[in-house]
Amino acid sequence: MNARTTSTTPGTRIRRRTALRRTATALAASAAAVSLASCGVSDVGGSAEASPTKGDDITVGVLFPDKDTKRYEQFDYPIIKQKIAELTDNKGVTKYANAEKDQETQNSQIEQMVEEKVDILIVDAVDSKAVAPAVQKADDAGIPVIAYDRLAEGPIDGYVSFDNELVGQVQGRSLLEELGDSAANKIVMMHGSTTDPNAALFKQGAVSELQDKVTISETYDTKGWDPAVAKVNMEKTVAKLGIDNIDAVYAANDGIAGAVIDVLKTAGVSKVPPVTGQDAELEAVQRIVSGDQYMTVYKSFPLQANAAAEMAVAKVQGRSIEFDALAKDSVDSPTTENVPSQLVPPVALTKDNIEDTVVADGIYTVKQICTAKFKADCAAIDLD
Ligand code: GAL
Repeated sequence: MNARTTSTTPGTRIRRRTALRRTATALAASAAAVSLASCGVSDVGGSAEASPTKGDDITVGVLFPDKDTKRYEQFDYPIIKQKIAELTDNKGVTKYANAEKDQETQNSQIEQMVEEKVDILIVDAVDSKAVAPAVQKADDAGIPVIAYDRLAEGPIDGYVSFDNELVGQVQGRSLLEELGDSAANKIVMMHGSTTDPNAALFKQGAVSELQDKVTISETYDTKGWDPAVAKVNMEKTVAKLGIDNIDAVYAANDGIAGAVIDVLKTAGVSKVPPVTGQDAELEAVQRIVSGDQYMTVYKSFPLQANAAAEMAVAKVQGRSIEFDALAKDSVDSPTTENVPSQLVPPVALTKDNIEDTVVADGIYTVKQICTAKFKADCAAIDLD
């Protein structure tokens, strides 16, 4: 298989070992394997060993980073909780904490769960670097850690995510499909949080598609993925460039897209230019229906959340063959090599495939999307 090397954040490199599958509906598990070639790697592998004697009576700590991104509490956590119950004959339970964008809070939440002797942790870090001391404490206490979505540093035992560079490529490519590639097209780029390693990968994927094909006029990162921050950044951009000089906006996720679209509308655009997004939030799907947002990236929450629950239960119960089968990919973080991983493929969601993605997966019903306000737009795209 061909190795492909691309640089991500400074000092980090990705080696992609298998061809990436780009499925239309992402309903199959990913075979994408990513390996970050080590750069200053000091620690090798997650070391916490789960006791093979654990039965169904387990406690899984689940930690999410914020409430601004709706998917975490709306989908990811309930799915994980339910899957753990299902896999353990309703004997396994979860403990939940949300860090509300603060890594210190999350580290205390992890320490608290370590003290309470949970059996395993599923952690979506606010700051993938600053979470490392808490991950180390869990490891010292013999509690394994599965990193969720964002690659936490420190001795983690598993990782479940999407092919995050591909997410950025999908966003970039969609914009080009809509706009065509011409240097005359001026694009504003609104990236995610600099403490989230995924944001660097989204950026890298999107920039690799767009650079040299369009003109990138303005670029911002969005602290904490906070839509309020994105709003201020977009207001500055509109003041600087003027609405007629913005042909499209790359928005890294739906929270940012919503803020960008509000600012453009307030500034008086007659038609909102193409804006990307990510996470398939209900409001974003509705904006796509009404034509205010061009696309979002649908990352199958059930695939990701179920995989995390399955890996956690297999790990705690010491079923290593099953664990390995669930984690066929391998990723290196800046501190830890060969993290057994599962990477799920993302899907571009536009007007054309709402039914085949979020509706088919049972994320939203047509009724939820097509409320009175969107009835006519839904009918126009045969979503009724
Ligand atoms: C990323 C995640 C996205 C989105 C974003 C905002 O790490 O992959 O799906 O949730 O964080 O918090």
